[in-house]
Amino acid sequence: PKYWAVVPAAGIGRRMGGSHPKQYQSMCGKSILEHTLDKLLSVCAIEKVVVALSPGDAYWPALACRHHPKIVSVAGGDERADSVLNALQYLLAEAAEDDWVLVHDAARPCVRVHDIETLIQRAGAAGAILATPLSDTVKQVSDQAITATLDRSQLWAAQTPQMFPLRALHDALQSALDKQLQVTDEASAMELAGWRPAVVPAGRDNIKVTHPQDLVLAELILTQQLEG
Ligand code: CTP
Ligand code: MG
Repeated sequence: PKYWAVVPAAGIGRRMGGSHPKQYQSMCGKSILEHTLDKLLSVCAIEKVVVALSPGDAYWPALACRHHPKIVSVAGGDERADSVLNALQYLLAEAAEDDWVLVHDAARPCVRVHDIETLIQRAGAAGAILATPLSDTVKQVSDQAITATLDRSQLWAAQTPQMFPLRALHDALQSALDKQLQVTDEASAMELAGWRPAVVPAGRDNIKVTHPQDLVLAELILTQQLEG
């Protein structure tokens, strides 16, 4: 089977703020989205990267990498899951149903190429995601009072890429959206469809750039990676 990548990049970056969407904010001399695409393009096994963009995106046309032979763009949707689904629909016309797809947030430029390669090697039949064990103790809270302390030994923070068979992921996401269930990542849609995806331990430096202070940290991590 072949491996394809989908990059949801149609968000507005509300929590980040700033004059343009966070995927187009600059660090280490390039936009966050370009750094993310560089990482995926460094993985030889990936056939093509499908980038889901906001229909009114005025920044994409200025990126040189849009001409890269392995990059195509499609329109994104209202929610992250809609953006991913649009990209999967494009791929279903292009790829075989049992090909694999890796979905990776545009906002995670610090992912290590080596971790993506490990994910591809280790994914079993039910798919897999990059993840890392939690280091914080997690509280369940209601009205600003603690109602429970969760067992940290069982808790992992989900990252991306998340990798699944193309048709299975498409159907799982479609069914979650049809039922109006909240899915914030691909694995949760697969879990709702009865799958048990695996976790592949990844570097803690694969942060999602969400708030302004994340940009400072991401720039530090990328600088180290680019020097190393
Ligand atoms: N995303 C997308 N389509 C949407 C919403 C989000 O493709 N309708 C993408 C974002 O561009 C980002 C990834 O999904 O790469 C993860 O989402 P998030 O970090 O929440 O980004 P934003 O939605 O842009 O940020 P915010 O929630 O703060 O507005
Ligand atoms: Mg969001």
